[in-house]
Amino acid sequence: MTSLTFDADDFLLEQAGPRRFDVVTIALHWLTVLLLIGLFASIWSLASVEDGETAAFLLTLHRSLGVLLWITAVVRIGWRLGRAVLPPFPATMGPLQQWAARLSEYGLYALLLAQPLTGLAQSFTRGKPFAIFGGVVPAVMERDLDMTHLFHELHEYAAWLLLVLIALHILAAVFHRVVVRDEVLQSMLPWKQAETGEGRE
Ligand code: HEM
Ligand code: HEM
Repeated sequence: MTSLTFDADDFLLEQAGPRRFDVVTIALHWLTVLLLIGLFASIWSLASVEDGETAAFLLTLHRSLGVLLWITAVVRIGWRLGRAVLPPFPATMGPLQQWAARLSEYGLYALLLAQPLTGLAQSFTRGKPFAIFGGVVPAVMERDLDMTHLFHELHEYAAWLLLVLIALHILAAVFHRVVVRDEVLQSMLPWKQAETGEGRE
């Protein structure tokens, strides 16, 4: 029988009862999604903006959301390595499928960490102060256009790779829900309870 009293263990969902990712992991997952929507929306709308003031605002928003996303990713990975509760993969998923899921999720983590760094590097190598979070980051190096170009390319290609991985990730989640009909999608939804099971490493 599930206890109706709450303590730290209930918070981490470590007791018997509905099994899914813990509340912190779920919150950080969906915060990441919101930040990514803001990041792509701000940079893609930049191309169609005519006046300089709006363009500068969008770029500042992009940089600020990118730095926030980097912090979120670091906190998320720290939490995952420390206290997170990871529900098991369903028994219907073979070892190969489990590895594919892990690999794509580690790939997402790697890109979430790397992408803001190439963005920052691109801004620093321009050798000019730039706005972020309503403040100004001073120039810390001489202008180096070759490096700016290199980091711009890295930033652009990695953004496409991130989009491809996200698309595959969403397809996999929908596939689990609609075709396999297991509990994988529910395990990450804030409002759904998944069934029981042991934690994954
Ligand atoms: C995960 C986080 C981020 C994502 C997904 C992302 C995505 C993108 C994308 C898709 C572009 C357009 C590339 C192109 O087609 O030319 C771009 C451009 C850019 N990003 Fe990011 N970015 C992120 C973080 C950052 C951060 C943290 C900064 C700087 C602090 C930054 C600075 C820039 C700059 C300066 C540009 C070039 C804008 C221009 O001059 O056209 N980005 N980013
Ligand atoms: C848009 C950007 C997204 C990113 C960067 C992202 C990233 C991640 C990462 C890194 C994990 C691994 C969690 C862990 O084991 O530590 C994960 C898990 C998960 N995500 Fe996303 N996600 C995104 C969007 C979505 C969306 C839109 C959905 C739903 C349609 C979704 C559904 C899930 C589910 C169900 C899991 C758990 C899978 C499992 O059991 O391993 N994600 N996500």
